[in-house]
Amino acid sequence: MGFTRHAAAVLCVVFLTVSGARGSDPELTKDFSIPPGIDTSKLDGSFFTYTGFRGGVSTAPGETGSKKATVVEFPALDGLGISFFLMSFAPGGVLPPHLHPRGSKLIYMIQGTLTVGFMDSNHKLYNSTLEEGDVYVVPRALVHYMANLDGDKETKVIFAFSSSNPGSIRLPENLFGSKIPTKVLEKSFGVSEQVIEQLEAPYHKNTTGDYH
Ligand SMILES: *[C@@H]1O[C@H](CO)[C@@H](O)[C@H](O)[C@H]1NC(C)=O
Ligand SMILES: *[C@@H]1O[C@H](CO)[C@@H](O)[C@H](O)[C@H]1NC(C)=O
Repeated sequence: MGFTRHAAAVLCVVFLTVSGARGSDPELTKDFSIPPGIDTSKLDGSFFTYTGFRGGVSTAPGETGSKKATVVEFPALDGLGISFFLMSFAPGGVLPPHLHPRGSKLIYMIQGTLTVGFMDSNHKLYNSTLEEGDVYVVPRALVHYMANLDGDKETKVIFAFSSSNPGSIRLPENLFGSKIPTKVLEKSFGVSEQVIEQLEAPYHKNTTGDYH
Protein backbone atom coordinates (compact mmCIF):
# COMPACT_ATOMS: atom_id res chain seq x y z
CA MET A 1 0.00 0.00 0.00
CA GLY A 2 1.43 3.39 -0.99
CA PHE A 3 1.95 6.05 1.63
CA THR A 4 -0.88 8.24 0.29
CA ARG A 5 -3.47 5.49 0.41
CA HIS A 6 -2.32 4.45 3.85
CA ALA A 7 -2.47 8.05 5.12
CA ALA A 8 -5.92 8.48 3.60
CA ALA A 9 -7.16 5.32 5.31
CA VAL A 10 -5.76 6.47 8.67
CA LEU A 11 -7.33 9.92 8.25
CA CYS A 12 -10.64 8.31 7.35
CA VAL A 13 -10.60 6.13 10.49
CA VAL A 14 -9.66 9.13 12.66
CA PHE A 15 -12.46 11.20 11.12
CA LEU A 16 -15.05 8.44 11.62
CA THR A 17 -13.93 7.91 15.21
CA VAL A 18 -14.07 11.60 16.06
CA SER A 19 -17.38 12.25 14.33
CA GLY A 20 -18.88 9.05 15.78
CA ALA A 21 -18.05 10.16 19.31
CA ARG A 22 -19.93 13.45 18.93
CA GLY A 23 -23.61 14.06 19.73
CA SER A 24 -26.30 13.56 17.12
CA ASP A 25 -26.57 16.99 15.56
CA PRO A 26 -23.72 19.27 14.47
CA GLU A 27 -22.63 21.75 17.11
CA LEU A 28 -23.46 25.46 16.72
CA THR A 29 -20.69 28.02 16.71
CA LYS A 30 -23.09 30.75 17.88
CA ASP A 31 -25.75 31.07 20.62
CA PHE A 32 -28.59 29.81 18.43
CA SER A 33 -29.59 29.46 14.80
CA ILE A 34 -32.01 31.80 13.05
CA PRO A 35 -33.58 30.70 9.76
CA PRO A 36 -32.96 32.96 6.73
CA GLY A 37 -35.61 35.60 6.13
CA ILE A 38 -36.20 36.40 9.81
CA ASP A 39 -35.50 39.99 10.88
CA THR A 40 -33.16 39.44 13.82
CA SER A 41 -33.87 42.90 15.27
CA LYS A 42 -37.48 41.80 15.81
CA LEU A 43 -36.56 38.43 17.37
CA ASP A 44 -38.08 37.93 20.81
CA GLY A 45 -39.20 35.20 23.19
CA SER A 46 -42.01 34.09 20.90
CA PHE A 47 -39.41 32.58 18.53
CA PHE A 48 -38.34 30.31 21.40
CA THR A 49 -41.92 29.44 22.39
CA TYR A 50 -43.85 26.53 20.85
CA THR A 51 -47.60 26.59 21.48
CA GLY A 52 -48.52 23.55 19.38
CA PHE A 53 -48.91 21.28 22.41
CA ARG A 54 -51.69 23.41 23.91
CA GLY A 55 -54.83 21.39 24.45
CA GLY A 56 -52.80 18.15 24.68
CA VAL A 57 -53.20 15.34 22.19
CA SER A 58 -56.14 13.09 21.45
CA THR A 59 -56.44 9.69 19.80
CA ALA A 60 -59.09 7.51 18.16
CA PRO A 61 -60.11 4.25 19.93
CA GLY A 62 -57.41 1.58 19.56
CA GLU A 63 -54.99 4.05 17.96
CA THR A 64 -52.16 6.40 18.88
CA GLY A 65 -51.97 10.17 18.49
CA SER A 66 -49.02 12.54 18.51
CA LYS A 67 -47.92 16.14 18.35
CA LYS A 68 -44.33 16.90 17.40
CA ALA A 69 -41.96 19.72 18.19
CA THR A 70 -39.00 18.96 15.93
CA VAL A 71 -37.02 21.58 14.03
CA VAL A 72 -39.69 21.32 11.32
CA GLU A 73 -42.47 22.62 13.60
CA PHE A 74 -40.21 24.63 15.94
CA PRO A 75 -37.32 26.26 14.00
CA ALA A 76 -35.65 27.53 17.20
CA LEU A 77 -34.45 23.93 17.76
CA ASP A 78 -32.10 24.11 14.78
CA GLY A 79 -28.61 23.07 15.83
CA LEU A 80 -29.58 22.39 19.46
CA GLY A 81 -29.76 18.58 19.15
CA ILE A 82 -33.08 18.23 20.99
CA SER A 83 -36.78 17.75 20.20
CA PHE A 84 -40.01 16.75 21.88
CA PHE A 85 -43.13 14.69 21.08
CA LEU A 86 -46.36 14.51 23.03
CA MET A 87 -48.07 11.14 22.57
CA SER A 88 -51.28 9.44 23.49
CA PHE A 89 -52.04 5.70 23.32
CA ALA A 90 -55.67 4.65 23.49
CA PRO A 91 -56.14 1.18 25.05
CA GLY A 92 -54.89 -1.22 22.34
CA GLY A 93 -52.82 1.48 20.64
CA VAL A 94 -49.52 0.19 19.19
CA LEU A 95 -46.44 1.85 17.71
CA PRO A 96 -45.03 -0.95 15.49
CA PRO A 97 -41.28 -1.71 15.46
CA HIS A 98 -39.38 1.33 14.18
CA LEU A 99 -36.10 3.17 14.73
CA HIS A 100 -34.80 6.74 14.80
CA PRO A 101 -31.59 7.01 12.77
CA ARG A 102 -30.43 10.30 14.29
CA GLY A 103 -31.44 10.34 17.94
CA SER A 104 -31.75 8.46 21.21
CA LYS A 105 -35.16 8.77 22.84
CA LEU A 106 -36.19 9.32 26.45
CA ILE A 107 -39.75 8.38 27.34
CA TYR A 108 -41.43 10.04 30.31
CA MET A 109 -44.73 8.52 31.51
CA ILE A 110 -47.31 11.20 32.33
CA GLN A 111 -50.25 8.82 32.74
CA GLY A 112 -51.16 5.12 32.40
CA THR A 113 -48.95 2.13 31.59
CA LEU A 114 -46.88 1.25 28.51
CA THR A 115 -45.36 -2.01 27.27
CA VAL A 116 -42.01 -1.17 25.65
CA GLY A 117 -38.89 -2.89 24.36
CA PHE A 118 -35.88 -2.44 22.11
CA MET A 119 -33.56 -5.00 20.52
CA ASP A 120 -29.77 -4.67 20.34
CA SER A 121 -27.63 -5.71 17.38
CA ASN A 122 -27.43 -9.26 18.81
CA HIS A 123 -31.25 -9.43 18.71
CA LYS A 124 -31.54 -9.40 22.49
CA LEU A 125 -34.75 -7.83 23.75
CA TYR A 126 -34.69 -5.30 26.60
CA ASN A 127 -38.35 -4.92 27.52
CA SER A 128 -40.16 -3.17 30.31
CA THR A 129 -43.59 -2.23 31.56
CA LEU A 130 -43.68 1.47 32.37
CA GLU A 131 -45.88 3.16 34.92
CA GLU A 132 -46.73 6.76 35.63
CA GLY A 133 -43.59 8.74 36.49
CA ASP A 134 -41.15 6.23 34.91
CA VAL A 135 -38.44 7.14 32.43
CA TYR A 136 -37.09 4.70 29.79
CA VAL A 137 -34.37 5.25 27.23
CA VAL A 138 -34.10 3.86 23.70
CA PRO A 139 -30.53 4.13 22.35
CA ARG A 140 -30.17 5.73 18.94
CA ALA A 141 -30.96 3.63 15.85
CA LEU A 142 -32.14 0.54 17.75
CA VAL A 143 -35.47 -1.01 16.75
CA HIS A 144 -38.19 -0.57 19.40
CA TYR A 145 -41.93 -0.86 19.92
CA MET A 146 -44.52 0.51 22.34
CA ALA A 147 -48.07 -0.47 23.15
CA ASN A 148 -50.85 0.22 25.59
CA LEU A 149 -51.83 -3.42 26.10
CA ASP A 150 -53.08 -3.25 29.66
CA GLY A 151 -56.21 -1.84 31.12
CA ASP A 152 -58.79 0.55 29.90
CA LYS A 153 -56.95 3.78 30.52
CA GLU A 154 -55.42 6.16 27.99
CA THR A 155 -51.62 6.41 28.25
CA LYS A 156 -49.94 9.79 27.85
CA VAL A 157 -46.19 10.17 27.37
CA ILE A 158 -43.52 12.66 26.38
CA PHE A 159 -40.62 11.70 24.12
CA ALA A 160 -37.43 13.74 24.26
CA PHE A 161 -34.91 13.13 21.45
CA SER A 162 -31.18 13.86 21.23
CA SER A 163 -31.68 15.34 17.77
CA SER A 164 -33.71 18.26 16.47
CA ASN A 165 -34.90 15.93 13.70
CA PRO A 166 -34.52 12.27 14.80
CA GLY A 167 -36.28 10.76 11.75
CA SER A 168 -38.28 7.54 11.83
CA ILE A 169 -37.86 4.28 9.89
CA ARG A 170 -40.96 2.14 10.24
CA LEU A 171 -40.13 -1.54 9.74
CA PRO A 172 -43.48 -2.85 8.43
CA GLU A 173 -43.69 -0.09 5.82
CA ASN A 174 -39.95 -0.14 5.15
CA LEU A 175 -40.06 -3.88 4.32
CA PHE A 176 -43.51 -4.33 2.80
CA GLY A 177 -44.35 -0.88 1.46
CA SER A 178 -41.17 -0.15 -0.46
CA LYS A 179 -41.53 -2.53 -3.45
CA ILE A 180 -38.60 -4.80 -2.56
CA PRO A 181 -38.84 -7.66 -5.13
CA THR A 182 -41.28 -10.29 -3.82
CA LYS A 183 -38.74 -13.07 -4.54
CA VAL A 184 -36.29 -11.38 -2.16
CA LEU A 185 -38.89 -11.13 0.59
CA GLU A 186 -40.09 -14.73 0.03
CA LYS A 187 -36.56 -16.05 0.50
CA SER A 188 -35.81 -13.67 3.40
CA PHE A 189 -38.83 -14.72 5.42
CA GLY A 190 -39.16 -18.31 4.16
CA VAL A 191 -42.82 -17.85 3.24
CA SER A 192 -44.92 -18.03 0.06
CA GLU A 193 -45.67 -15.25 -2.40
CA GLN A 194 -49.26 -15.16 -1.05
CA VAL A 195 -48.04 -14.35 2.46
CA ILE A 196 -45.82 -11.54 1.13
CA GLU A 197 -48.74 -10.13 -0.87
CA GLN A 198 -50.87 -10.18 2.24
CA LEU A 199 -48.20 -8.26 4.16
CA GLU A 200 -47.85 -5.75 1.32
CA ALA A 201 -51.58 -5.20 0.86
CA PRO A 202 -52.02 -2.36 3.40
CA TYR A 203 -49.37 -0.30 1.60
CA HIS A 204 -50.99 -0.54 -1.82
CA LYS A 205 -53.45 2.05 -0.56
CA ASN A 206 -50.91 4.85 -0.18
CA THR A 207 -51.22 4.83 3.59
CA THR A 208 -48.66 6.84 5.51
CA GLY A 209 -47.98 5.49 8.95
CA ASP A 210 -47.29 7.81 11.86
CA TYR A 211 -44.97 5.94 14.19
CA HIS A 212 -42.67 7.49 16.73
C1 LIG B 1 -40.52 -8.94 29.13
O1 LIG B 1 -40.92 -9.92 28.20
C2 LIG B 1 -41.03 -11.22 28.75
C3 LIG B 1 -41.28 -12.18 27.61
O2 LIG B 1 -42.36 -11.76 26.82
C4 LIG B 1 -42.14 -11.23 29.79
O3 LIG B 1 -42.28 -12.51 30.35
C5 LIG B 1 -41.80 -10.21 30.88
O4 LIG B 1 -42.86 -10.10 31.78
C6 LIG B 1 -41.53 -8.83 30.26
N1 LIG B 1 -41.01 -7.97 31.29
C7 LIG B 1 -41.57 -6.80 31.57
C8 LIG B 1 -40.93 -6.04 32.67
O5 LIG B 1 -42.53 -6.36 30.97
C1 LIG C 1 -49.99 6.91 -4.53
O1 LIG C 1 -49.12 8.01 -4.32
C2 LIG C 1 -48.34 8.32 -5.43
C3 LIG C 1 -47.35 9.40 -5.03
O2 LIG C 1 -47.91 10.32 -4.17
C4 LIG C 1 -49.25 8.76 -6.56
O3 LIG C 1 -48.49 9.10 -7.71
C5 LIG C 1 -50.21 7.63 -6.89
O4 LIG C 1 -51.12 8.05 -7.87
C6 LIG C 1 -50.96 7.19 -5.65
N1 LIG C 1 -51.74 5.98 -5.95
C7 LIG C 1 -52.99 5.83 -5.57
C8 LIG C 1 -53.62 4.51 -5.92
O5 LIG C 1 -53.61 6.69 -4.95
